[in-house]
Amino acid sequence: MKDPGKLYVKTFGCQMNVYDTEKIYAFLQDSYVPAASEEEADVIILNTCSIREKAEQKVYSLLGRFKPLKDVNPDLLIGVGGCVAQQEGERILSRSPAVDIVFGTHNVDEIPLLLAERIREGKRICRVKEDTGKVPAAGAPRAMGSAGPTSLLTIMKGCDNYCAYCVVPIVRGREVSRSAREILDEAGFLAGNGVREITLLGQNVNSYRDPVTGAGFVSLLESLELLSGIERIRFVTSHPKDFSPELARSMADLSKVCEHIHLPVQAGSDRVLKAMKRGYTSREYLEQVEFLRQLVPDVEFTTDIIVGFPGEEREDFEGTLDILKLVRYQNAFSFRFSPRPGTAAAEMEDCVDADVKRPWLPELQELQNSITAEKHRDMVGKEVEVLVEGVDKKKSGLIEGRTRTNYIVHFPGDAALTGRTVRVRITDSRTIHLVGEMVN
Ligand code: 5AD
Ligand code: SF4
Repeated sequence: MKDPGKLYVKTFGCQMNVYDTEKIYAFLQDSYVPAASEEEADVIILNTCSIREKAEQKVYSLLGRFKPLKDVNPDLLIGVGGCVAQQEGERILSRSPAVDIVFGTHNVDEIPLLLAERIREGKRICRVKEDTGKVPAAGAPRAMGSAGPTSLLTIMKGCDNYCAYCVVPIVRGREVSRSAREILDEAGFLAGNGVREITLLGQNVNSYRDPVTGAGFVSLLESLELLSGIERIRFVTSHPKDFSPELARSMADLSKVCEHIHLPVQAGSDRVLKAMKRGYTSREYLEQVEFLRQLVPDVEFTTDIIVGFPGEEREDFEGTLDILKLVRYQNAFSFRFSPRPGTAAAEMEDCVDADVKRPWLPELQELQNSITAEKHRDMVGKEVEVLVEGVDKKKSGLIEGRTRTNYIVHFPGDAALTGRTVRVRITDSRTIHLVGEMVN
C-alpha cells in the first residue's frame, strides 16, 4: 500500500474554523496523516477568516511565502478554504498562482473529492457554493491528532443578525440548527472516546431551535446534562438580545453547565449599539449580567468589543470603559473597527479622525489587563476544580487545565491525569494563567 501523504491545515479566526479544521483532518484521514510543519507537507490548507481586514491580508502574505515550497516539492498542493475563500473565490486563484484549490464555507465536506479532482485532471479548482440553507453535514468522525478530554461541537451554522459591522452572515449564510438527535449522537460518540468537556458552537447559540421538534437551546442543554461521560458543558457565542432568563436559570440548575459565559457587548454607548444594530441597550445588558450573577454568584464573564465604530466619539468610548469597570470581565477580546466589504458599516461616514481614535484600543486593553490581573490575584489561595487537558508544552513538568469558571491553571502533576478532574489550590497568578498545586 502507498504511504499516506502529509497534511498541514493552518487555522485563522474563530472556533468555528477550529471545528472545520478538525473536520478537514477527519475527512482526509484515510489518505493523509498530519504534518508537523508546512515544509514537510504534501497538502497545505489555509482555513481563513475575513472578520477583520488584517486576517485577510495575512492569508495573502502567507500564500506568497508558500511559493518556494512548491519549487522544492512540485507535487505540493495548496488549498484555501474558510471565509476569505467564500468571499473572494476565483480572485484568490488569479492573485496567488501557487493556489490549487479554493473551497467555500459550504464546501468543506467536498475536500477529498476536490483534491482527487485536482490530482486527476490537473486543473486549478474554485468551488464556492452559495448558501443553500441546508443543515451542515453531521460532525465528521473525531479528527486525528485532536483527541483529548475537551471538544468543540457545532450545533448551528450561519447567523441571521446582520450586525452592521459583521461579515459572518455574508460568508457563513443564514442561521440553520442541527437536530438535537444528531448533536446528542455526536456528543455520545465524543464521550465514548474520552471527551469530558464539550463546547457547543454557534454564532448565536441562544436562538438554537431543533428543526425536527422545535425545542430550543435550554432543552438541548437539559438533554446533554443527562449524557453519561460528559462532565462539563460550555457554549459560545451568546447574543445578549437573546440571552433569556430561562437560560440563566438553567445555568444555575444544570450541574454540568459551567459557570462562565461569553457575552459580547461590542460597545457601551447606546448610540453606537443602535448603529451597530445590536438590539439591546447598555442598561439591558447590565441587567442581564446582574440577573445571572444573582443566580450563579461565581459566574465569570468574557466579552468582545469593537473600538472606533463609525461615528463613535470619545464620550461613547468612555461608555465602553464604564461597562468594563462595572462588569469586571475575566477577559475581553477587543478589536479596532475594520470595514468589511458588503456590510452596512462599511458604507457609514465617520466624522471622527482616525488619529483621535487610534490610542483608544490600547487604552481599553490596558484597563482590561489591570482588571484581569486583579481578578487573577484574587484567585490566589482559593481551591478550584480543574479538568486536566494535558502537559503544558512550554513549562516541562507542569500540566494544565481549566476551572469551570474558565481560568487556565498550570501545576505540577503527571500527564497520566489528562482527562481527570482534580482539586488544585491556587498559589500564584500570571498574565494569562494561574499557578497552583494539587490538594488531596
Ligand atoms: N471590525 C472589528 N471587529 C469585528 N468583529 C466582527 N466584525 C468586526 C469588524 N468589522 C469582532 C466582534 C465579534 C468578534 C468575533 O469579532 O467583536 O464579536
Ligand atoms: Fe456577526 Fe452579529 Fe451574527 Fe455575531 S451576531 S456573527 S457579530 S452578525
